[in-house]
Amino acid sequence: MKIALIGYGKMGKTIEQIALSRGHQIVSIIDINNPEEIYSDNFKSADVAIEFTTPATAFDNYMKCFAADVPVVSGTTGWLNRIGEIKDMCEKEGKTFFYASNFSIGVNIFFALNKHLAKIMNQFPAYDVKMMETHHIHKLDAPSGTAITLAEGVLENIERKERWTLETAEKETDLPIYAIREGEVPGIHEITYESDVDTIVIKHDAKSRAGFALGAVIAAEFTADKKGFLGMEDMLKF
Ligand SMILES: NC(=O)c1ccc[n+]([C@@H]2O[C@H](COP(=O)([O-])OP(=O)(O)OC[C@H]3O[C@@H](n4cnc5c(N)ncnc54)[C@H](O)[C@@H]3O)[C@@H](O)[C@H]2O)c1
Repeated sequence: MKIALIGYGKMGKTIEQIALSRGHQIVSIIDINNPEEIYSDNFKSADVAIEFTTPATAFDNYMKCFAADVPVVSGTTGWLNRIGEIKDMCEKEGKTFFYASNFSIGVNIFFALNKHLAKIMNQFPAYDVKMMETHHIHKLDAPSGTAITLAEGVLENIERKERWTLETAEKETDLPIYAIREGEVPGIHEITYESDVDTIVIKHDAKSRAGFALGAVIAAEFTADKKGFLGMEDMLKF
């Protein structure tokens, strides 16, 4: 498969190694210094583009991929207020876009576990719930996209919680997410249920970026011959 990389930072470089090890070809690499490469024939020849850039640049990159008719797999976080526009373009204009706030297979197992636990805990109001996410100091957005997906899994299933909040819980119906930035941590997510008598904690701790990068390459393999708006649930079918 021919892959174009948009964003050649920590994720882009890890994805390149994994894609090559799985027998794929990297036909185009775009970063902040050569944005015009996205209009090149090499870019247009790609079966799929994998985009990991920044919250401020991702949406514009998607538009350029759509204009070149190259399907996009993206994991950039912090731009999701515009996801409705992308879904519309996939539905009405036949574009192809795969998004995951977290491409790690383990995290997606954790998402399923989180929803299942929340369904159980909905029956036990003696427990309050909070979340914590820890990432490296270079991360631009907070809370993490993964924490937001986890929070949505809790809010869908626990009737006594209405919205997630960053750092503070003003009301009992708030689900607080505490965001910690330290060192080079690839990503830790914890959901804690606490009553007067005990504490239940579930936790995912990524050892490196390799899990995210492998998931993104597997998603690219899945996406290359598909149409529409896709996500991990379409691919993993739990
Ligand atoms: N979904 C997931 O599984 C997952 C996993 C890890 C990181 N992320 C997210 O992916 C994004 C990138 O993470 P990273 O750790 O690789 O960051 P990074 O800062 O190491 O890399 C980002 C790269 O994008 C480049 N860039 C900036 N603007 C650009 C533009 N207009 N066109 C092309 N390239 C441009 C930067 O120069 C940089 O090299 C972040 O939003 C992060 O939160 C998602």
